[in-house]
This record gives sequence, C-alpha cells and structure tokens, in this order.
Amino acid sequence: MLTWMPELYGRSMLRLADVSDEEMMSLIQLAIELKARRRAGVRGDLLHRRHIALIFEKSSTRTRNSAIIAVRDEGGSAEYLTKNDIHLGAKESVKDTARVLGRLFDGILFRGFEQKTVATLAKYSGVPVWNGLTDLFHPTQILADLMTIQESFGRLKGLKVAYVGDGRNNVSNSLMLGCVKAGIHFVNCTPKELSPDPVLVTEAREIGARNGATIEIVHDPKKGVVGANVLYTDVWVSMGEEAQKEERMKLLRPYQVNSELVRATGNAGGELIFLHCLPAFHDYETAMTAKSGALEVTDEVFEAPFSKVFDEAENRMHTIKALYVSALSDISAI
Ligand code: CP
Ligand code: NVA
Repeated sequence: MLTWMPELYGRSMLRLADVSDEEMMSLIQLAIELKARRRAGVRGDLLHRRHIALIFEKSSTRTRNSAIIAVRDEGGSAEYLTKNDIHLGAKESVKDTARVLGRLFDGILFRGFEQKTVATLAKYSGVPVWNGLTDLFHPTQILADLMTIQESFGRLKGLKVAYVGDGRNNVSNSLMLGCVKAGIHFVNCTPKELSPDPVLVTEAREIGARNGATIEIVHDPKKGVVGANVLYTDVWVSMGEEAQKEERMKLLRPYQVNSELVRATGNAGGELIFLHCLPAFHDYETAMTAKSGALEVTDEVFEAPFSKVFDEAENRMHTIKALYVSALSDISAI
C-alpha cells in the first residue's frame, strides 16, 4: 500500500511553500516507498500513458534524467525540449506555449532562469507544473535531500542542517524552506554580501515557528556549523552567474567544506552526513579549469564515508516520481 494524499492530485509545485508541511512529508514517505518498490524489481503502471514535457533552458544531468526515468518506470513518457527545440519566449509567448503543451501533455517540468516563467506555465497550461530549478528555487532537489536525511537518521525533526556557501542561491533558499517545514533547525553560513532575502527569511521563520525549527544566518562558518548533523554546500557560482566567479572565490574561500570544518561541527564520527546537490567541484584540477569552478568542498570530505551525495542524487528520481504519482495517478483506483 502506497502513502497517498488525494489533496496533491492535479497540483503544481513551483516552490516548497506550495505544499503543506504534511503534504511535503507524505511526498518524502511516498518516495521512500517507491524506492523500495523499484528495488524489489517492480516496474508498474502508476503513470501509464501519462506524458510529461520537460522544458529546459539550463543544462542538467540529475534532474533531466530523473524526470525521464521516473515517468518511464511507471509506464509513461517524457519529451525533452530545450529553447532550440520549441518557440518558448522567442517566437511564441510563454503563455501561448503553456496553452499548447497543456493540451498535449499531462504535466510539465521546467528548468530555467526566471521564476515567473514557471509560474506562467502553471497558470496557463491547465496541467501540473513542477519547478526543476530556477534562479530563485530548487524545490525538487530539497525533497531528495530531506529523503536522504530521513534515510540516514531515521528522523528529521530536531536535527540541525548547516548550509555553507552562497547563502542566497536557489538551493539555499529552498533548503531553508524545506528544513523548517520538516522541523529541522537551519543555519545559513554565508558572507554578509550573500545573505538570503530578508522577506524569504521572515516567511521561513514563520513556518519554522509552527514546527519548532529555528533559522540562523551566521557569517563565521566555524561557529555556524557547531552541532550540525548535516553539512551542506553547493557550487559558489550558479548557472548564469559565471561572470561573478572571481568575486565569489574571494568571498567564499573561508567557507570551503573541509576536514577542519567537519571537526568544527563536534559531530565528526557521529551523527553527521555531508550533502551536496551536485554537480560539485571537489578536485583542484576540474575546479580551476571550469568556467564556474571554485572547490567548494575538498576531495577528502566529498569521498568520505559520511558523504551521502550519490544516495542524494539517486533520490532525485524517487522524489520526482513521487511528485508525478501524487499529481497524476489515482492510486486509490489501482
Ligand atoms: N542537482 C541538480 O539539479 O543536478 P543537475 O543540474 O544535474 O540536474
Ligand atoms: N545553485 C546551482 C544548483 C545546480 C543544481 C545552480 O543553480 O547552478
């Protein structure tokens, strides 16, 4: 029997705040069940003849392939569409594209720049739309992160996540929301210049208040990570921000996740995991030759036994499947 919340049927997710705390937890639970189902060798038909459009303005390894495999595993199909394949925003407005694709597909997953594009797709397509990363948010990533934390500790509530790095990017914004929705204390270790939007912090603090979770913005990483159960980082230069590489490297050098920072948690060898949404720069040569490379984590930490980054990457697929199944499949009828 799969965990199923009928309230999620037909729903979009453009940011984590679009689902209730309970709905978010049920999506994570469903993803855990779907993972076990796949491991047991079941390729079912929960998404039989459901067709998903994947509109991608930015490149992707995990999100794109998770979004394809998730629907194919359960009997449906996906169509990968870049800006070169369709007229989106060039010859045809996003609104018109939404109205056309909504007549053909059962759902749309979007990755790109502006949050308003994904919002327009949701408003006019008439089908569920999921945000697969915009400049502002990356909600499907955080479902996988929370699932990985749940698998690692057997619980979420009361844990402490320390995010270290660019404190105002899509991943840190969504991680902050996801943590407080799950009752996890969130510490954002970032330089003043990269502090998160105060409006978003206020919203997240209100969510945290109902779940007993706090938010701290700390500029000294060694202080911020004390007591952390999860050390989390992301690239210092997000897609579309390559011109800011030099400035970011200067600002973020003291925020590298390395063995010293791991020791500063006080939890090394105990209840501590390392997460990174990936792709990651963890070896010097790749970091120095890439346009956006900056060595946000050392190889030693990335490859350590407490690094769960590849479980986290796999969980992208199970959580996206949970979103599809909840929104498109009438599980009660199966
Ligand atoms: N974490 C993540 O979104 O990876 P991709 O950019 O490869 O999709
Ligand atoms: N913050 C990163 C996340 C990549 C998955 C970016 O936007 O490039």
